[in-house]
Amino acid sequence: MIKGLKGIVATETSISHIDGDQGRLVYRGYDISDLTNKCSFEEVAYLLWYGKLPTERDLKNLKEELRKNRTLDSFLVEILNSLPANMDMMSVLRTAISAMGTVNYTWKPTISQAIKLTAIIPTIIAYRKRTLDGERFVSPHDDLDHVANYLYMLNGKVPQKPHVTSLESYMILTLEHGMNASTFSARVTASTESDLVSAITSAIGTMKGPLHGGAPSGVIELLNEISIAGDAEKVIRHKLNQNEKLMGFGHRVYKTHDPRSIALKETLLNLVGQDKWLDLAIEVEKSAIKLLEEYKPGRSLYTNVEFYAAAIMQSIELDASLFTPTFTSSRIVGWTSHVIEQSEDNTIYRPQSTYVGKFMSSSV
Ligand code: ACO
Repeated sequence: MIKGLKGIVATETSISHIDGDQGRLVYRGYDISDLTNKCSFEEVAYLLWYGKLPTERDLKNLKEELRKNRTLDSFLVEILNSLPANMDMMSVLRTAISAMGTVNYTWKPTISQAIKLTAIIPTIIAYRKRTLDGERFVSPHDDLDHVANYLYMLNGKVPQKPHVTSLESYMILTLEHGMNASTFSARVTASTESDLVSAITSAIGTMKGPLHGGAPSGVIELLNEISIAGDAEKVIRHKLNQNEKLMGFGHRVYKTHDPRSIALKETLLNLVGQDKWLDLAIEVEKSAIKLLEEYKPGRSLYTNVEFYAAAIMQSIELDASLFTPTFTSSRIVGWTSHVIEQSEDNTIYRPQSTYVGKFMSSSV
Protein backbone atom coordinates (compact mmCIF):
# COMPACT_ATOMS: atom_id res chain seq x y z
CA MET A 1 0.00 0.00 0.00
CA ILE A 2 1.35 3.42 -0.93
CA LYS A 3 0.07 6.19 1.31
CA GLY A 4 -1.33 9.16 -0.60
CA LEU A 5 -0.78 7.23 -3.89
CA LYS A 6 2.73 8.75 -3.97
CA GLY A 7 4.37 8.06 -7.32
CA ILE A 8 1.40 6.07 -8.67
CA VAL A 9 0.44 6.84 -12.28
CA ALA A 10 -3.37 7.12 -12.41
CA THR A 11 -3.89 7.97 -16.08
CA GLU A 12 -2.32 9.01 -19.37
CA THR A 13 -2.78 12.63 -20.40
CA SER A 14 -1.78 14.89 -23.28
CA ILE A 15 -2.68 18.06 -21.39
CA SER A 16 0.49 18.74 -19.41
CA HIS A 17 3.82 17.22 -18.45
CA ILE A 18 5.75 17.82 -15.24
CA ASP A 19 9.40 16.87 -14.91
CA GLY A 20 9.87 16.99 -11.14
CA ASP A 21 13.63 16.35 -11.28
CA GLN A 22 14.43 18.97 -13.91
CA GLY A 23 11.81 21.47 -12.70
CA ARG A 24 9.97 21.67 -16.03
CA LEU A 25 6.27 22.18 -16.77
CA VAL A 26 4.85 21.76 -20.29
CA TYR A 27 1.30 22.56 -21.46
CA ARG A 28 0.31 20.64 -24.62
CA GLY A 29 3.94 20.51 -25.74
CA TYR A 30 4.85 24.14 -24.90
CA ASP A 31 7.21 24.97 -22.04
CA ILE A 32 5.45 27.35 -19.64
CA SER A 33 8.37 29.78 -19.84
CA ASP A 34 7.50 30.18 -23.56
CA LEU A 35 3.85 30.93 -22.74
CA THR A 36 4.00 33.19 -19.69
CA ASN A 37 4.39 36.90 -20.47
CA LYS A 38 3.99 36.15 -24.20
CA CYS A 39 0.44 34.79 -24.36
CA SER A 40 -2.81 35.94 -22.80
CA PHE A 41 -4.94 33.94 -20.36
CA GLU A 42 -7.39 33.28 -23.19
CA GLU A 43 -4.71 32.01 -25.59
CA VAL A 44 -3.34 29.50 -23.06
CA ALA A 45 -6.83 28.43 -21.99
CA TYR A 46 -7.62 27.79 -25.67
CA LEU A 47 -4.41 25.74 -25.96
CA LEU A 48 -5.40 23.58 -22.99
CA TRP A 49 -9.00 23.04 -24.14
CA TYR A 50 -8.39 22.55 -27.88
CA GLY A 51 -4.82 21.19 -27.89
CA LYS A 52 -3.45 23.94 -30.19
CA LEU A 53 -2.83 27.67 -30.03
CA PRO A 54 -5.70 29.78 -31.41
CA THR A 55 -5.74 31.68 -34.69
CA GLU A 56 -6.74 35.34 -34.43
CA ARG A 57 -10.31 34.38 -35.27
CA ASP A 58 -10.38 31.52 -32.71
CA LEU A 59 -9.13 33.90 -30.05
CA LYS A 60 -11.73 36.52 -30.90
CA ASN A 61 -14.48 33.89 -30.68
CA LEU A 62 -13.24 32.56 -27.33
CA LYS A 63 -13.06 36.06 -25.86
CA GLU A 64 -16.58 36.70 -27.10
CA GLU A 65 -17.85 33.44 -25.54
CA LEU A 66 -16.24 34.32 -22.21
CA ARG A 67 -17.77 37.83 -22.32
CA LYS A 68 -21.23 36.47 -23.12
CA ASN A 69 -21.16 34.16 -20.10
CA ARG A 70 -19.89 36.58 -17.45
CA THR A 71 -23.28 37.72 -16.27
CA LEU A 72 -24.92 36.23 -13.17
CA ASP A 73 -28.34 34.65 -13.71
CA SER A 74 -30.98 35.92 -11.28
CA PHE A 75 -31.22 32.55 -9.51
CA LEU A 76 -27.47 32.72 -8.74
CA VAL A 77 -27.86 36.25 -7.37
CA GLU A 78 -30.64 34.98 -5.10
CA ILE A 79 -28.49 32.09 -3.89
CA LEU A 80 -25.51 34.35 -3.27
CA ASN A 81 -27.66 36.82 -1.34
CA SER A 82 -29.02 34.05 0.87
CA LEU A 83 -25.66 32.63 1.98
CA PRO A 84 -24.49 33.39 5.53
CA ALA A 85 -21.94 36.20 5.81
CA ASN A 86 -19.50 33.94 7.64
CA MET A 87 -19.28 31.45 4.77
CA ASP A 88 -15.77 31.48 3.28
CA MET A 89 -15.32 32.27 -0.41
CA MET A 90 -14.35 28.73 -1.44
CA SER A 91 -17.54 27.38 0.13
CA VAL A 92 -19.48 30.12 -1.67
CA LEU A 93 -17.91 29.12 -4.99
CA ARG A 94 -18.58 25.42 -4.34
CA THR A 95 -22.23 26.18 -3.57
CA ALA A 96 -22.79 28.57 -6.46
CA ILE A 97 -21.11 26.32 -9.04
CA SER A 98 -23.02 23.32 -7.69
CA ALA A 99 -26.27 25.26 -8.17
CA MET A 100 -25.48 25.58 -11.89
CA GLY A 101 -25.94 21.84 -12.35
CA THR A 102 -28.95 21.83 -14.62
CA VAL A 103 -29.85 19.75 -17.69
CA ASN A 104 -27.48 21.96 -19.67
CA TYR A 105 -24.57 20.16 -18.05
CA THR A 106 -25.33 16.50 -18.59
CA TRP A 107 -22.71 13.92 -19.64
CA LYS A 108 -20.64 14.25 -21.84
CA PRO A 109 -18.77 17.40 -20.86
CA THR A 110 -18.03 19.94 -23.63
CA ILE A 111 -15.67 22.85 -24.14
CA SER A 112 -18.65 25.16 -24.36
CA GLN A 113 -19.72 24.08 -20.82
CA ALA A 114 -16.12 24.58 -19.66
CA ILE A 115 -16.09 28.14 -21.04
CA LYS A 116 -19.35 28.97 -19.25
CA LEU A 117 -18.02 27.83 -15.85
CA THR A 118 -14.68 29.58 -16.40
CA ALA A 119 -16.42 32.82 -17.37
CA ILE A 120 -18.71 32.99 -14.35
CA ILE A 121 -16.26 32.28 -11.50
CA PRO A 122 -14.68 35.78 -11.34
CA THR A 123 -18.14 37.36 -11.35
CA ILE A 124 -19.29 35.16 -8.45
CA ILE A 125 -16.16 36.11 -6.48
CA ALA A 126 -16.49 39.83 -7.20
CA TYR A 127 -20.23 39.87 -6.45
CA ARG A 128 -19.77 38.15 -3.10
CA LYS A 129 -16.74 40.23 -2.08
CA ARG A 130 -18.29 43.59 -2.88
CA THR A 131 -21.66 42.68 -1.37
CA LEU A 132 -20.00 41.57 1.89
CA ASP A 133 -17.96 44.78 1.94
CA GLY A 134 -21.20 46.78 1.58
CA GLU A 135 -20.23 48.01 -1.89
CA ARG A 136 -22.23 48.24 -5.10
CA PHE A 137 -21.73 45.32 -7.52
CA VAL A 138 -19.75 46.34 -10.60
CA SER A 139 -21.03 44.71 -13.79
CA PRO A 140 -18.49 43.15 -16.18
CA HIS A 141 -16.71 45.62 -18.50
CA ASP A 142 -17.35 44.82 -22.16
CA ASP A 143 -13.97 46.16 -23.32
CA LEU A 144 -11.84 44.21 -20.86
CA ASP A 145 -10.43 40.72 -21.23
CA HIS A 146 -10.86 37.99 -18.62
CA VAL A 147 -8.11 38.91 -16.13
CA ALA A 148 -8.45 42.71 -16.39
CA ASN A 149 -12.21 42.38 -16.04
CA TYR A 150 -11.80 40.33 -12.85
CA LEU A 151 -9.74 43.11 -11.24
CA TYR A 152 -12.18 45.70 -12.59
CA MET A 153 -15.19 43.94 -11.04
CA LEU A 154 -13.36 43.60 -7.71
CA ASN A 155 -12.09 47.18 -7.44
CA GLY A 156 -14.61 49.15 -9.50
CA LYS A 157 -11.91 50.81 -11.63
CA VAL A 158 -9.94 49.84 -14.73
CA PRO A 159 -6.79 48.16 -13.36
CA GLN A 160 -3.22 49.33 -13.89
CA LYS A 161 -1.37 47.39 -16.60
CA PRO A 162 1.36 45.99 -14.26
CA HIS A 163 -1.34 44.59 -11.97
CA VAL A 164 -3.03 42.84 -14.89
CA THR A 165 0.32 41.49 -16.16
CA SER A 166 1.25 40.12 -12.70
CA LEU A 167 -2.08 38.45 -12.15
CA GLU A 168 -2.23 37.13 -15.72
CA SER A 169 1.25 35.54 -15.29
CA TYR A 170 0.10 33.89 -12.08
CA MET A 171 -3.11 32.67 -13.66
CA ILE A 172 -1.35 31.24 -16.73
CA LEU A 173 1.18 29.45 -14.53
CA THR A 174 -1.57 27.88 -12.43
CA LEU A 175 -4.03 26.93 -15.19
CA GLU A 176 -2.99 23.31 -15.12
CA HIS A 177 -0.73 20.94 -13.20
CA GLY A 178 -1.20 17.27 -13.97
CA MET A 179 -2.72 14.90 -11.45
CA ASN A 180 -2.83 17.23 -8.43
CA ALA A 181 -5.41 16.48 -5.72
CA SER A 182 -8.23 18.67 -7.08
CA THR A 183 -7.77 17.53 -10.69
CA PHE A 184 -7.76 13.93 -9.51
CA SER A 185 -11.01 14.62 -7.62
CA ALA A 186 -12.57 16.08 -10.76
CA ARG A 187 -11.49 13.07 -12.85
CA VAL A 188 -12.75 10.57 -10.26
CA THR A 189 -16.17 12.25 -10.23
CA ALA A 190 -16.26 12.45 -14.03
CA SER A 191 -15.26 8.78 -14.29
CA THR A 192 -18.68 7.80 -12.93
CA GLU A 193 -20.16 9.63 -15.97
CA SER A 194 -21.38 12.34 -13.66
CA ASP A 195 -21.67 15.85 -15.17
CA LEU A 196 -19.07 18.61 -15.46
CA VAL A 197 -20.64 20.76 -12.73
CA SER A 198 -20.42 17.85 -10.25
CA ALA A 199 -16.80 17.21 -11.19
CA ILE A 200 -15.90 20.88 -10.69
CA THR A 201 -17.81 21.01 -7.39
CA SER A 202 -15.67 18.07 -6.17
CA ALA A 203 -12.52 19.83 -7.35
CA ILE A 204 -13.38 23.10 -5.57
CA GLY A 205 -13.94 21.21 -2.31
CA THR A 206 -10.53 19.58 -2.71
CA MET A 207 -8.80 22.80 -3.69
CA LYS A 208 -9.98 24.45 -0.45
CA GLY A 209 -7.64 22.48 1.85
CA PRO A 210 -4.53 24.20 3.27
CA LEU A 211 -2.20 21.52 1.90
CA HIS A 212 -3.34 22.32 -1.65
CA GLY A 213 -4.96 25.58 -2.74
CA GLY A 214 -5.25 27.05 0.73
CA ALA A 215 -1.48 27.53 1.08
CA PRO A 216 -1.11 31.20 -0.05
CA SER A 217 -3.03 32.50 2.98
CA GLY A 218 -0.64 30.43 5.13
CA VAL A 219 2.30 32.05 3.33
CA ILE A 220 0.98 35.53 4.13
CA GLU A 221 0.58 34.52 7.79
CA LEU A 222 4.18 33.27 7.79
CA LEU A 223 5.49 36.48 6.16
CA ASN A 224 3.43 38.62 8.55
CA GLU A 225 4.72 36.74 11.56
CA ILE A 226 8.31 37.12 10.38
CA SER A 227 7.80 40.78 9.53
CA ILE A 228 6.51 41.48 13.07
CA ALA A 229 9.17 39.34 14.80
CA GLY A 230 11.91 40.85 12.59
CA ASP A 231 13.90 37.60 12.63
CA ALA A 232 13.20 35.05 9.88
CA GLU A 233 15.56 32.39 11.21
CA LYS A 234 14.09 32.47 14.74
CA VAL A 235 10.47 32.13 13.53
CA ILE A 236 11.30 29.36 11.04
CA ARG A 237 13.38 27.41 13.57
CA HIS A 238 10.54 27.63 16.06
CA LYS A 239 8.09 26.23 13.51
CA LEU A 240 10.40 23.42 12.44
CA ASN A 241 11.11 22.56 16.11
CA GLN A 242 7.32 22.22 16.56
CA ASN A 243 7.25 19.94 13.50
CA GLU A 244 5.08 22.49 11.67
CA LYS A 245 5.12 22.64 7.88
CA LEU A 246 6.26 25.87 6.27
CA MET A 247 3.52 27.02 3.92
CA GLY A 248 4.72 27.63 0.37
CA PHE A 249 7.54 25.06 0.60
CA GLY A 250 7.74 21.48 -0.60
CA HIS A 251 5.99 19.69 -3.42
CA ARG A 252 4.90 16.14 -4.10
CA VAL A 253 6.40 16.13 -7.60
CA TYR A 254 9.11 18.82 -7.76
CA LYS A 255 12.29 17.74 -6.07
CA THR A 256 14.02 20.86 -7.28
CA HIS A 257 12.81 24.45 -7.76
CA ASP A 258 9.19 24.69 -8.90
CA PRO A 259 9.47 26.42 -12.33
CA ARG A 260 6.29 28.36 -11.59
CA SER A 261 7.85 29.80 -8.46
CA ILE A 262 10.92 30.91 -10.46
CA ALA A 263 8.71 32.48 -13.16
CA LEU A 264 6.58 34.33 -10.60
CA LYS A 265 9.63 35.64 -8.79
CA GLU A 266 10.99 36.94 -12.13
CA THR A 267 7.65 38.55 -13.00
CA LEU A 268 7.63 40.28 -9.65
CA LEU A 269 11.23 41.47 -9.93
CA ASN A 270 10.53 42.86 -13.42
CA LEU A 271 7.27 44.53 -12.53
CA VAL A 272 7.60 45.81 -9.02
CA GLY A 273 11.39 45.84 -8.52
CA GLN A 274 11.96 47.00 -4.97
CA ASP A 275 9.02 46.11 -2.77
CA LYS A 276 8.73 45.47 0.97
CA TRP A 277 6.91 42.16 0.53
CA LEU A 278 9.12 40.92 -2.26
CA ASP A 279 12.29 41.72 -0.28
CA LEU A 280 10.88 39.92 2.75
CA ALA A 281 9.83 36.91 0.64
CA ILE A 282 13.34 36.63 -0.87
CA GLU A 283 14.90 36.78 2.61
CA VAL A 284 12.47 34.16 3.98
CA GLU A 285 13.08 31.87 0.99
CA LYS A 286 16.85 31.97 1.56
CA SER A 287 16.58 31.34 5.28
CA ALA A 288 13.93 28.61 4.97
CA ILE A 289 15.79 26.61 2.30
CA LYS A 290 18.90 26.61 4.51
CA LEU A 291 16.95 25.53 7.62
CA LEU A 292 14.85 22.93 5.77
CA GLU A 293 18.09 21.31 4.61
CA GLU A 294 19.25 21.30 8.26
CA TYR A 295 15.96 19.91 9.71
CA LYS A 296 14.87 17.75 6.77
CA PRO A 297 18.09 16.76 5.01
CA GLY A 298 17.71 15.13 1.61
CA ARG A 299 13.99 15.96 1.26
CA SER A 300 14.73 18.64 -1.40
CA LEU A 301 12.31 21.27 -0.12
CA TYR A 302 12.10 24.52 -2.08
CA THR A 303 9.47 27.17 -2.65
CA ASN A 304 6.37 26.00 -4.50
CA VAL A 305 4.08 28.14 -6.69
CA GLU A 306 2.12 29.36 -3.68
CA PHE A 307 5.07 31.15 -2.11
CA TYR A 308 5.58 33.87 -4.73
CA ALA A 309 1.90 33.78 -5.61
CA ALA A 310 1.27 35.18 -2.15
CA ALA A 311 3.78 37.99 -2.82
CA ILE A 312 2.07 38.74 -6.19
CA MET A 313 -1.37 38.87 -4.60
CA GLN A 314 -0.01 41.10 -1.86
CA SER A 315 1.64 43.46 -4.35
CA ILE A 316 -1.56 43.87 -6.38
CA GLU A 317 -3.46 44.40 -3.12
CA LEU A 318 -5.74 41.42 -3.49
CA ASP A 319 -7.44 40.59 -0.23
CA ALA A 320 -6.11 37.37 1.38
CA SER A 321 -9.63 35.87 1.33
CA LEU A 322 -9.39 35.92 -2.49
CA PHE A 323 -6.12 34.01 -2.90
CA THR A 324 -7.50 30.48 -3.18
CA PRO A 325 -10.61 31.60 -5.11
CA THR A 326 -8.31 33.35 -7.61
CA PHE A 327 -6.31 30.14 -7.94
CA THR A 328 -9.64 28.39 -8.57
CA SER A 329 -10.51 30.86 -11.33
CA SER A 330 -7.42 29.77 -13.23
CA ARG A 331 -7.31 26.05 -12.37
CA ILE A 332 -10.88 25.60 -13.62
CA VAL A 333 -9.34 25.49 -17.10
CA GLY A 334 -7.12 22.53 -16.17
CA TRP A 335 -9.96 20.76 -14.35
CA THR A 336 -12.36 21.09 -17.26
CA SER A 337 -9.69 19.99 -19.77
CA HIS A 338 -9.06 16.87 -17.68
CA VAL A 339 -12.74 16.06 -17.28
CA ILE A 340 -13.19 16.29 -21.06
CA GLU A 341 -10.12 14.09 -21.60
CA GLN A 342 -11.47 11.60 -19.03
CA SER A 343 -14.78 11.43 -20.89
CA GLU A 344 -13.03 10.58 -24.16
CA ASP A 345 -11.69 7.23 -22.91
CA ASN A 346 -13.40 6.59 -19.62
CA THR A 347 -12.86 3.87 -17.04
CA ILE A 348 -14.34 4.38 -13.59
CA TYR A 349 -11.71 4.99 -10.86
CA ARG A 350 -12.11 2.27 -8.26
CA PRO A 351 -8.94 1.48 -6.28
CA GLN A 352 -8.88 -0.96 -3.37
CA SER A 353 -8.12 -0.69 0.33
CA THR A 354 -6.42 -3.08 2.72
CA TYR A 355 -8.62 -3.96 5.68
CA VAL A 356 -6.74 -3.54 8.97
CA GLY A 357 -9.77 -3.94 11.32
CA LYS A 358 -10.71 -6.97 13.37
CA PHE A 359 -12.67 -10.07 12.30
CA MET A 360 -15.30 -10.89 14.99
CA SER A 361 -16.73 -14.31 15.76
CA SER A 362 -20.08 -14.88 14.04
CA SER A 363 -22.17 -14.73 17.25
CA VAL A 364 -23.61 -11.18 17.36
N1 ACO B 1 7.77 22.35 5.78
C1 ACO B 1 8.46 21.50 6.57
N2 ACO B 1 8.66 20.21 6.29
C2 ACO B 1 8.13 19.76 5.14
C3 ACO B 1 7.41 20.58 4.26
C4 ACO B 1 7.24 21.94 4.62
N3 ACO B 1 6.58 22.77 3.84
N4 ACO B 1 6.99 19.87 3.22
C5 ACO B 1 7.43 18.62 3.41
N5 ACO B 1 8.12 18.56 4.58
C6 ACO B 1 8.77 17.39 5.15
C7 ACO B 1 7.75 16.48 5.81
O1 ACO B 1 7.58 16.82 7.18
C8 ACO B 1 8.36 15.12 5.61
O2 ACO B 1 9.36 14.94 6.59
P1 ACO B 1 9.67 13.48 7.18
O3 ACO B 1 10.31 12.73 6.05
O4 ACO B 1 10.57 13.75 8.31
O5 ACO B 1 8.36 12.89 7.59
C9 ACO B 1 9.07 15.25 4.26
O6 ACO B 1 9.37 16.63 4.09
C10 ACO B 1 8.22 14.78 3.08
O7 ACO B 1 6.99 15.50 3.17
P2 ACO B 1 5.59 14.93 2.78
O8 ACO B 1 4.54 15.70 3.50
O9 ACO B 1 5.60 13.45 2.90
O10 ACO B 1 5.59 15.30 1.24
P3 ACO B 1 4.33 15.22 0.36
O11 ACO B 1 4.79 14.99 -1.01
O12 ACO B 1 3.35 14.27 0.93
O13 ACO B 1 3.68 16.67 0.54
C11 ACO B 1 3.11 18.92 0.32
C12 ACO B 1 3.76 17.71 -0.36
C13 ACO B 1 1.71 18.56 0.79
C14 ACO B 1 3.00 20.06 -0.69
C15 ACO B 1 3.99 19.35 1.51
O14 ACO B 1 5.28 19.69 1.05
C16 ACO B 1 3.37 20.48 2.31
O15 ACO B 1 2.50 20.24 3.15
N6 ACO B 1 3.79 21.78 2.04
C17 ACO B 1 3.21 22.87 2.75
C18 ACO B 1 1.86 23.25 2.17
C19 ACO B 1 1.96 23.91 0.80
O16 ACO B 1 2.77 24.78 0.56
N7 ACO B 1 1.07 23.46 -0.11
C20 ACO B 1 0.98 23.98 -1.48
C21 ACO B 1 1.50 22.94 -2.43
S1 ACO B 1 1.47 23.55 -4.11
C22 ACO B 1 -0.15 23.32 -4.56
O17 ACO B 1 -0.87 22.51 -4.05
C23 ACO B 1 -0.64 24.22 -5.61
